[in-house]
Amino acid sequence: MLSFKLSAAVSLLAATTLAQYDAPNGTLGPDENGKYEISAEGIRGLFIPYGASISNLFINDTNGIERDIVLGYDNASYYSVDPIHPHFGGVPGRYANRIKNSSFVIDGVEYHVVPNENNNNDTLHGGPDGWDWRNFTVVAHTTDSITFSIVDPDGKEGFPGEVISYITYTMTPHTWNLKMVAFATTKKTPIMLSSHTYWNLDAFANPDTPTALNHTLSLPYSGQRVGADGILIPNGTILPNELYSVNDFWSSPKQLGANFSAPELLGNCGTNCTGYDTCYLVNRAQYGDYDWRTFGPVATLSSNFTGIQVDIFTDQEAFQVYSCGGVNGVTPIKSTQGLEGRENVVQQYGCIVMEVEDWIDAINQPEWQRNNKQIYGPEDPPYVLEAAYVFSVN
Ligand SMILES: *[C@@H]1O[C@H](CO)[C@@H](O)[C@H](O)[C@H]1NC(C)=O
Ligand SMILES: *[C@@H]1O[C@H](CO)[C@@H](O)[C@H](O)[C@H]1NC(C)=O
Ligand SMILES: *[C@@H]1O[C@H](CO)[C@@H](O)[C@H](O)[C@H]1NC(C)=O
Ligand SMILES: *[C@@H]1O[C@H](CO)[C@@H](O)[C@H](O)[C@H]1NC(C)=O
Ligand SMILES: *[C@@H]1O[C@H](CO)[C@@H](O)[C@H](O)[C@H]1NC(C)=O
Ligand SMILES: *[C@@H]1O[C@H](CO)[C@@H](O)[C@H](O)[C@H]1NC(C)=O
Ligand SMILES: *[C@@H]1O[C@H](CO)[C@@H](O)[C@H](O)[C@H]1NC(C)=O
Ligand SMILES: *[C@@H]1O[C@H](CO)[C@@H](O)[C@H](O)[C@H]1NC(C)=O
Ligand SMILES: *[C@@H]1O[C@H](CO)[C@@H](O)[C@H](O)[C@H]1NC(C)=O
Ligand SMILES: *[C@@H]1O[C@H](CO)[C@@H](O)[C@H](O)[C@H]1NC(C)=O
Ligand SMILES: *[C@@H]1O[C@H](CO)[C@@H](O)[C@H](O)[C@H]1NC(C)=O
Repeated sequence: MLSFKLSAAVSLLAATTLAQYDAPNGTLGPDENGKYEISAEGIRGLFIPYGASISNLFINDTNGIERDIVLGYDNASYYSVDPIHPHFGGVPGRYANRIKNSSFVIDGVEYHVVPNENNNNDTLHGGPDGWDWRNFTVVAHTTDSITFSIVDPDGKEGFPGEVISYITYTMTPHTWNLKMVAFATTKKTPIMLSSHTYWNLDAFANPDTPTALNHTLSLPYSGQRVGADGILIPNGTILPNELYSVNDFWSSPKQLGANFSAPELLGNCGTNCTGYDTCYLVNRAQYGDYDWRTFGPVATLSSNFTGIQVDIFTDQEAFQVYSCGGVNGVTPIKSTQGLEGRENVVQQYGCIVMEVEDWIDAINQPEWQRNNKQIYGPEDPPYVLEAAYVFSVN
């Protein structure tokens, strides 16, 4: 198993990623809840091996009160037994979002992966034992950075070939930095990763509302979105987000709930669903060469109650927004969140999931011509995703 390719992968990792670590005395351990802490000025996060997930993210609000603004559970052990499995804060893999009919073709060969959604009509987030159902290995941990790894065997969930991946989270002042690298070591295979983080910038402590519908969202480069059928499978169309339509977050920022009384919003996130579960495209080609770190954010989310704002910078060319229409008052919130006198559960629309990613199910839409972004083999450079979530307070 320790192939030449693996050692090449490890040395590349060492060159590109581990070099930035300066651990004085080796690995720092998990806390009593099984969580690993990293921090920098103005930001502190807790992470767990299960799905390489973020479980807590603390930012001080406009009144200096520390708020935990992501969803998760109080302890690492609960993630493995939780019957709901909302993909809380993890890395969906090896292929995020849905695969139509649980199949795809590479070089004329049809592959079938294990279905797990809609009466087995499709595969969501890599299958019933996708990456965010497994414990990653902690390969490095310092006070401001943590790296997880996973070895995904050939044939697992029906995918061809072994994939080895490293997920690194690093805190710098007021910023959560993400770097995901994945190597297809033996065969050509689809790879698309993301961070499936759920947000409530009020930490559920806003006395006016337990929802995220008053959060303001801006997607300045997203004039288009992927068209999908009633079970959210892309149907090949790329749709315009017409000016002032419910999907227009590009012409100016608006509240997530601004258009909830508009009839067009019913069905916008699948059959009978009101809200958003949508893959927005990120169009920056007209600007020529750009540095994603300094070019504008692809998304900005803010809340008036805490004043907390996050600006999301990424090299990725799509951005998924889910307004938590399927969340229904069962999932518990953490002891670090909530409001005295209110039930400690997440209400419908109580959160927003934002996923930096590539165009969903492009492996089944060859005319989109994204194979170089989604199909990787042993001869190819690795899959890489980078993002920076930058926080400020208004
Ligand atoms: C190890 O590193 C931690 C975190 O930087 C520090 O608190 C601790 O004192 C160090 N221990 C030793 C023995 O150097
Ligand atoms: C919030 O402010 C307190 C008091 O200044 C400080 O101790 C704490 O580290 C801050 N939290 C974060 C996440 O920066
Ligand atoms: C872990 O967290 C879950 C969810 O919040 C809770 O139900 C459970 O009691 C906790 N277990 C321990 C051992 O703290
Ligand atoms: C993952 O690790 C946690 C904490 O050590 C453990 O409780 C759990 O059983 C593990 N889950 C899986 C799926 O291996
Ligand atoms: C879906 O896959 C099955 C095999 O698993 C195949 O028989 C069927 O034709 C496919 N359907 C579509 C619509 O592609
Ligand atoms: C899924 O597939 C089954 C059987 O192929 C079909 O009857 C059903 O209508 C499909 N759609 C959904 C949403 O379950
Ligand atoms: C694809 O889905 C979109 C959004 O639901 C819809 O407007 C469009 O008519 C569909 N197109 C085809 C060809 O199915
Ligand atoms: C959506 O909300 C925005 C902001 O309030 C408004 O300008 C726009 O007209 C609304 N669109 C629809 C279709 O209701
Ligand atoms: C929350 O949003 C609703 C609908 O857009 C609006 O009526 C209400 O005034 C907003 N509340 C706050 C506190 O901004
Ligand atoms: C959608 O809602 C209608 C009306 O309530 C209902 O008849 C239909 O079965 C629902 N469809 C699905 C797929 O849930
Ligand atoms: C935020 O608060 C300011 C000042 O109270 C108000 O003018 C503005 O409309 C609010 N924005 C939102 C999105 O609620």
